[in-house]
Amino acid sequence: MCGIVGYVGFRPAAEILLEGLRRLEYRGYDSAGIAVIDAGEISIRKKAGRVQELARLLEKHPVNGSLGIGHTRWATHGQPSDINSHPHVGGNGEVVVVHNGVIENYSILKSHLQTLGYVFRSSTDTEVAAHLIAHEFSELIKMGEDPESSNTAIQAVEAAIKQFKGTYGLGVLFRDIPDFLIAARLGSPLVIGMGQGEYFLASDAGPLAGHTQEVVYLSDHELVVLTSQGMQLHHRDTGKHAPDVQVLAQAESGSGLNGFEHYMLKEIFEQPETIENAMRGRLDEDEATAKFGGLNLTPQQLRRIDRIVLTGCGTSWHAGLVGEYLIEEFARIPTEVEYASELRYRNPPLSTSTMVFAITQSGETADTLAAMRECKRKGHPTLAICNVVGSTIAREADGGIFLHAGPEVGVASTKAFTSQVTVLTLLALYLGRLRNMSYPAGQRIISHLQAMPDAIRKTLECHDQIKDIAQRYCDYDNFLYLGRLYNFPVALEGALKLKEISYIHAEGYPAAEMKHGPIALVDERTPSVFIAPRGHIYPKVMSNLEEIKARKGPVIALACEGDAKLDQLADDVVYVPFVEEYLQPLVCSIPLQLLSYEIALLRGCNVDRPRNLAKSVTVE
Ligand code: G6P
Repeated sequence: MCGIVGYVGFRPAAEILLEGLRRLEYRGYDSAGIAVIDAGEISIRKKAGRVQELARLLEKHPVNGSLGIGHTRWATHGQPSDINSHPHVGGNGEVVVVHNGVIENYSILKSHLQTLGYVFRSSTDTEVAAHLIAHEFSELIKMGEDPESSNTAIQAVEAAIKQFKGTYGLGVLFRDIPDFLIAARLGSPLVIGMGQGEYFLASDAGPLAGHTQEVVYLSDHELVVLTSQGMQLHHRDTGKHAPDVQVLAQAESGSGLNGFEHYMLKEIFEQPETIENAMRGRLDEDEATAKFGGLNLTPQQLRRIDRIVLTGCGTSWHAGLVGEYLIEEFARIPTEVEYASELRYRNPPLSTSTMVFAITQSGETADTLAAMRECKRKGHPTLAICNVVGSTIAREADGGIFLHAGPEVGVASTKAFTSQVTVLTLLALYLGRLRNMSYPAGQRIISHLQAMPDAIRKTLECHDQIKDIAQRYCDYDNFLYLGRLYNFPVALEGALKLKEISYIHAEGYPAAEMKHGPIALVDERTPSVFIAPRGHIYPKVMSNLEEIKARKGPVIALACEGDAKLDQLADDVVYVPFVEEYLQPLVCSIPLQLLSYEIALLRGCNVDRPRNLAKSVTVE
């Protein structure tokens, strides 16, 4: 949550910062702002609302200067408003700060600073950081330090961050120190882009694309000083050190809309290719297994694993549920799925032969990162299933599998989910073949997987039918999503998609559990979405469906092609191609993604930027 950008160099900073904020807007869109310094004067432009509002403000009131910081906000402390927007100034305007994270002890620090005479204008925790840095700076000056020296500024920032409890990615400018930007990190990601006579700062590598391919990822407790001529890294414990420069792959193509009205729709339609990319080079037909380059564990080590924990948040947690079924069925390894936010504090008994997988699209989700670190600390092999190369989780994991799904911009995750499920299927196949799975069984799974991109292409043909269904149901206020076995996580994910982008209350349940509570909600105004393709408990799902119909609940069903029975029972049937049961989540999630998209459009919701949400949740 919240995106930070910074620039020091020779070009007009405002344009670069604004473009960077557009690319980081997925991290929060409650407000946006920039601060630019020119000839000892700080100009701040900030505005509640989207980055576009800031762009309009800058058109009317442009700013000059080649040194600046910017921020796009997902509100934690203080409601979205102009005054709570970043950047925030400290002291008498000698310091200006942008911040991503949460300063948990802000109220103690604030009271202390107020007693010293500092006046707070906003209700944010960030203003505390700005005033505290300014205060430490003025204390150093009182002790005889030079107010125009970068060393004084560095000492002031170091003294302030020592007092913070919580997390921060900070960008700091000092009014009277030209050509000088400081950034510091604890828990919130920051990356530096190295140019020729210019340096860039950002929360992820997105804003650097087109400017430079040479980047340095900051680690926790690192502070970096940027000038147009160079960078200096300091670690709290080890002092100054040389940067570990990495070269970014060419900016991934496809970050535009490619003619689609929204990123979410574009990403839904990319799924035949993204699923193919998740499998590319990983199917070993000769050995009837899958292969991965980066697990960093030998087959011998993997055979000794006797338990797996999958952890993540939101949609990634749902993918984990599918993974649990897959791994237990194919590899017979006991597997559990844990909410990362629970796992990080729960301390369950895990033996050293337990392997942990963090599942995450962004690789930056704070709870998933904390859960992963906790498991690493206890000595478990901890791997990541991640989309964003260079993200904190990807870098800190002992090994892992990348999704190769390309940038996912829509806040509601779609293609990342199906890529995660695909990768988990490959993983289950691989672990199964290291144990008891036979060669022909491995071959069958490979041929089923190879057919998936076409099955997804065919499934996407339901789009026009989904538009009609959305017209009929867009005014309903409550939905149930019901499925069993592999389709239970699909029900959860379908309900989550509807909630996220159309703000309709929706609950996902195992279809049979519906009898134990949710059935009380069923009436003519509560549609149930049944995920009911053919499988070994199909007749049981039909009984559950009849129970809903008997109570006059409208039913939308997902069924396998040629299922005439459902045509008679359900009010609307969406047909999906026949695939094996364990692959049904891949095809069945697609009509549900489209349904939530179309309903949200009809209700006038902002599909790509739903209210209150952010794509990358970097706070607890
Ligand atoms: C946020 C996003 C969800 C995502 C979840 C986990 O809530 O809005 O779409 O599923 O974070 O994100 P991750 O990047 O860890 O998969």
